[in-house]
Amino acid sequence: MEITNVSEYENVAKQKLPKMVFDYYASGAEDQWTLQENRNAFSRILFRPRILIDVSKIDMTTTVLGFKISMPIMIAPTAMQKMAHPEGEYATARAASAAGTIMTLSSWATSSVEEVASTGPGIRFFQLYVYKDRNVVAQLVRRAEKAGFKAIALTVDTPRLGRREADIKNRFVLPPFLTLKNFEGLDLGKMDQANDSGLASYVAGQIDRTLSWKDVKWLQTITSLPILVKGVLTAEDTRLAVQSGAAGIIVSNHGARQLDYVPATISALEEVVKAAQGRVPVFLDGGVRRGTDVFKALALGASGIFIGRPVVYSLAAEGEVGVRKVLQMLREEFEMTMTLSGCRSLKEITREHITADWDTPRTHPRALPRL
Ligand code: GLV
Repeated sequence: MEITNVSEYENVAKQKLPKMVFDYYASGAEDQWTLQENRNAFSRILFRPRILIDVSKIDMTTTVLGFKISMPIMIAPTAMQKMAHPEGEYATARAASAAGTIMTLSSWATSSVEEVASTGPGIRFFQLYVYKDRNVVAQLVRRAEKAGFKAIALTVDTPRLGRREADIKNRFVLPPFLTLKNFEGLDLGKMDQANDSGLASYVAGQIDRTLSWKDVKWLQTITSLPILVKGVLTAEDTRLAVQSGAAGIIVSNHGARQLDYVPATISALEEVVKAAQGRVPVFLDGGVRRGTDVFKALALGASGIFIGRPVVYSLAAEGEVGVRKVLQMLREEFEMTMTLSGCRSLKEITREHITADWDTPRTHPRALPRL
């Protein structure tokens, strides 16, 4: 079947992958309300396109933390990509690099920071989980820095792993031929079978639940890399992140895999953008499947977006070629959206180009019936 949009890869992946693996990637927490909402909320934002503007040239380039990229579409960290395809994170790194965009490597990758760096040049960020053993963290951050990673995306929404019921039923565990490569030498690369999700047990054993704002400061004492705080959903935490020295904020609900019934990220975005007051860039992940979604996020003030599941699904379907296609399709759709909205560069995309369901009506209410 010819693939014509990013969402179509999900079904292909479902057919190709073992049930345990597909379920792991696809699942959200508990009722999966937020999982649906991450998509649905985009459909409640409509365009206010401007016409008769010369759109013969469209410039999608942008700069993220000082790095020039070809479009505001980047790759989110997703764990254990070799479950999806034998080339896993290597394929993703190559596809991102070919597209001129940023890849974020997960702490729980099945390829190490050094291995990913060896795929060739590319601008890469490293997603960090803070382990109880801070020596492990310090070592890993140093390795990422040495391997040329340009920023740390600190995940802050996972003191415990959310309840993903499919993983519990499947007794999800990393297949025995794979390891969490970054932790292999540290004796933390394996995941034991548990009477639960194996990953949930791993997190309960290793991840530091005491993590707090002071650790965001601590992290800055062990690395000079900029820190993106990933998992912010409120104005309050935005202000704290800025005060704590964050270089940027990622509005994320962890692909709806942590706390269920948090709002869609696209619904939380504007509150965060307002609270950030332009002091740091704000990014978004969660539910982006169309170029129109990218445009909506930028219109609400995001400096860029990250895609997660589309990468693992396309990886499962077609390896590096699939991930390249996903990036290409989103690029083309986003270019189309800019063209048809009358925006020639990212800075021309404004709040006036969209209307959200929480906006006060712009038009006069219908005339009252005559008495
Ligand atoms: C990994 O970060 C996961 O949410 O499963």
